Amino acid sequence: MCGITGYIGYRNAYPIIINGLKRLEYRGYDSAGVMLFDGTNINVAKTKGKVSDLEERVAEQIIADGNIGIGHTRWATHGVPNDVNSHPHISASGELVIVHNGIIENYDSIKKELQTRGYVFKSDTDTEVLVNLIEEIKKKNKVKLGQAVQIALNQVVGAYAIAVFDRNKPDEMVVARLGSPIAIGVGKEFQEYFVASDASPFIEYTKDAIYLEDEEMAIIKKGRKVHVRKIKDDSFVDPQIHELKLNLEQIEKGGYDHFMLKEIHEQPRAIIDTFRGRLLRSEGIIKMSGVEDNMKKLLNADRIIIAACGTSWHAGLVAEYIFEEFARIPVEVEYASEFRYRNPVISEKDVLIAISQSGETADTLAAIKLAKSKGAFVFGVCNVVGSSIARETDAGAYTHAGPEIGVASTKAFTTQITVLALMALRLARAKGTMSSSKYRLYLQEIELIPAKIERLLKVDEKVKEIAEIYQHVPNCLYLGRGFNFPVALEGALKLKEISYIHAEGYPAAEMKHGPIALIDENMPVIVIATDSEHYEKIVSNIQEIKSRKGKIIAIVTEGDHVVKNLADHVIEIPYVEEAFSPLLTTIPLQLLSYHIAVMRGCNVDQPRNLAKSVTVE
Ligand code: F6R
Repeated sequence: MCGITGYIGYRNAYPIIINGLKRLEYRGYDSAGVMLFDGTNINVAKTKGKVSDLEERVAEQIIADGNIGIGHTRWATHGVPNDVNSHPHISASGELVIVHNGIIENYDSIKKELQTRGYVFKSDTDTEVLVNLIEEIKKKNKVKLGQAVQIALNQVVGAYAIAVFDRNKPDEMVVARLGSPIAIGVGKEFQEYFVASDASPFIEYTKDAIYLEDEEMAIIKKGRKVHVRKIKDDSFVDPQIHELKLNLEQIEKGGYDHFMLKEIHEQPRAIIDTFRGRLLRSEGIIKMSGVEDNMKKLLNADRIIIAACGTSWHAGLVAEYIFEEFARIPVEVEYASEFRYRNPVISEKDVLIAISQSGETADTLAAIKLAKSKGAFVFGVCNVVGSSIARETDAGAYTHAGPEIGVASTKAFTTQITVLALMALRLARAKGTMSSSKYRLYLQEIELIPAKIERLLKVDEKVKEIAEIYQHVPNCLYLGRGFNFPVALEGALKLKEISYIHAEGYPAAEMKHGPIALIDENMPVIVIATDSEHYEKIVSNIQEIKSRKGKIIAIVTEGDHVVKNLADHVIEIPYVEEAFSPLLTTIPLQLLSYHIAVMRGCNVDQPRNLAKSVTVE
């Protein structure tokens, strides 16, 4: 969590840093700060609140601009969000300035040690400890900034992406990473450099980027090639320059009120991008290089373990149903955070599929490392190209959803399911667990999904009317069965995270084992009751809710008559093969959460306490 930016070059640093922080705000938004060096003075402004509050603070302080600076948007770990705990942090002598994304776990013992040497701390943060440790090492060992940073990082335990500035070396910046991402934008002829947690802050200035790997640090100096070294053994690394494919339009709102709404509407296009070049229907084949190249391992797997968090975990649950149905491979779906600490039984014959939009989730990354250490083959499903998880896995498939900026995941979910469905179909064909007629039907069906979602998105007005009625409820229940049980969980997560209404998702049949006690005339129950093998059963569940006077909002298939007569409201989706129905049923639930959150005046794209990229455990 937290976003960091930096600039060294010939332009004014402030607009680059502040606009960069706005693009990184998805990473955390409880406080923000900036340091600008005007050639003589270090000027710092920082505040609790969002980047827009920082802009106001800078305007009040009238701080001088310069050609070098660093900035930070925070998601608090150590110390409450307030002005003092905001980054950047300055060392005791006032010479070093740091921004940091991550956690220094042994900060307390280092702090005590520094206190015995006379250091006084203003904030409660681990970051202020780190900058003073660097300062102490620099003074004591009489070394340059780069060396001092390196020695300090070898003493700390935890995770970090840092950018450090030293007023004695004002044309230089030292950056380093372990567990939190850092990208360096390289300007023409090395006349300027950009530093950021991802490449979005600098895409209008350069398409050349270097991504630091874990345990690497770089010394960036205007007019010179970047020097990258390993933090542990000081060995030299030849940095690879990647060409960025991102463009500005992809990270702007494009006329929508919120990123979330834009991303909901992007799903037809995103799903096409996901299967483009992979689903070759006329030839009747699915081509995924990560799968083809590792077919033997995948086919010989005793079981597939899926590890993920949040919405990605829900996509994993849908995939469990799909893999078992199509390819008859046993699947277990794990919360990455539990899996990594549970001493799980893993063998070389297991395949771990890690799912992550950001590709940076700390728990998922740790689950991957654990599975690899036990000899399992690890396959990644990520959205962010070049992310830590994409690099750490043995093979994988990108979702190609494009940047997802709204903190609540939408198009990541549907594109993850699409990738996993393609993979399951490919394995089913290779294993012979699916007839060729069924296989062809499914290929055709996937191709039709984007147009069906496009048509479904027209229910927006109707969903808005329903949102109007239920916007003030304190609780909400979501029910689904089979392939749509995970959609019920996902619907509830979407509602609670952006509207702060308490919501629970359940498999519909579980209702009578407890949650039914909650149902009365004030409880809205959202039931996914589309055409399926279990349709009759879900109708019975609806009857049970109705006889307890619960309010029923049902998602049904076009042409449904039975549920229509029972429910208070129905939202129709186009007919779709049951296995792919989550790709459609989730859309009205996303819209419902969105509209309720907007009506309640919530910050849809940046819900309280959350961050898009959870790089701490
Ligand atoms: C919910 C949401 C989170 C993420 C979770 C995992 O809308 O966005 O629950 O799904 O933090 O993130 P990734 O997929 O980046 O690993």
